[in-house]
Amino acid sequence: MFRSVILAAARSPRVERLVSTAPVTRDVVRRFVAGTAIADALRVTRSLVDEGLTVSLDHLGEDCHLAEDAVRARDEYLRLLQALSDGGLTTAAEVSVKLSALGQRFDEQMAYEHARAICAAAEDVGTTVTLDMEDHTTTDSTLQILAELRKDFPRTGAVVQAYLRRTEADCRELATPGSRVRLCKGAYSEPESVAYQSDLDVDKSYVRCLNILMSGEGYPMVATHDPRLIAIAQDRARWFDRSPDEFEFQMLYGVRPAEQRRLAAAGYTVRVYVAYGTQWYGYLMRRIAERPANLAFFLRALRSTS
Ligand code: FDA
Repeated sequence: MFRSVILAAARSPRVERLVSTAPVTRDVVRRFVAGTAIADALRVTRSLVDEGLTVSLDHLGEDCHLAEDAVRARDEYLRLLQALSDGGLTTAAEVSVKLSALGQRFDEQMAYEHARAICAAAEDVGTTVTLDMEDHTTTDSTLQILAELRKDFPRTGAVVQAYLRRTEADCRELATPGSRVRLCKGAYSEPESVAYQSDLDVDKSYVRCLNILMSGEGYPMVATHDPRLIAIAQDRARWFDRSPDEFEFQMLYGVRPAEQRRLAAAGYTVRVYVAYGTQWYGYLMRRIAERPANLAFFLRALRSTS
């Protein structure tokens, strides 16, 4: 309920204007976003890698409506991958890509071709790409594009969202040898017809999906900050005889950083999802929607500009 209200408000241009210009916003953005430029992304990546963590970098931007913006997004990823390579960071850092930033909503073929160029560049410098998953209207298209990309770039990562009723079946399809699959709860506002609505049902679905991925032949990427699910994932790894290098934990930059370091120190691979860029609004609103405590910021931001 809380989440749907915030995510619905987030679609209002007026709210976007208010939040973007509120004085308190900058501090909150800084907590979740590495900065605006590739240099910022690299600086944060290096400091995380120095602490024993790995990284997936996301250039912020989604739902582009113009072909030239899609080209700009692709070119940014190509520059980012070159910079990671020049910085000697490609063994520890990969990239996460949203197909909607590459024009998926108005030209799927173009989005596929741009994603292909990014996968080829990633392979050239010795790293990988994961395709973020967006709202449910894009799931089929994203999985189809993933399947095409995997013909030439089999290590391209998939993302599945436990809140979708379809996801257990998708996990079964995806739990194949070498298949990198990130399991998350899901961050969008989705109707009951396609998604579980209660936290308990989402958590139960997460565990069922985790069982499929952990017992399967792929490489599970357990994306959650939820302490119970982290403990269950550790348990399942023991049940299914997976060593710490046969799956990984993933968390967002700025969320539970001490837990990220604790797990890394215990020998697990922990990948931090680091977002950078100027188009932080949608990303920030999803982070606020995930945690009622962040509502205080949201209200302060509105009050201070009205
Ligand atoms: P939950 O939301 O229940 O949080 C558990 C605990 O974690 C909270 O009690 C709190 O302590 C802490 N926490 C969680 N979120 C917080 C926040 N924003 N601020 C402060 N504390 C917070 N979604 C999607 O739809 N498509 C995608 O491609 C991805 N990709 C992705 C990559 C990675 C690496 C992660 C970690 C997450 C995603 N997500 C995503 C987001 C995901 O779907 C989900 O919305 C968030 O991870 C929050 O869910 P949790 O599993 O952490 O549980």
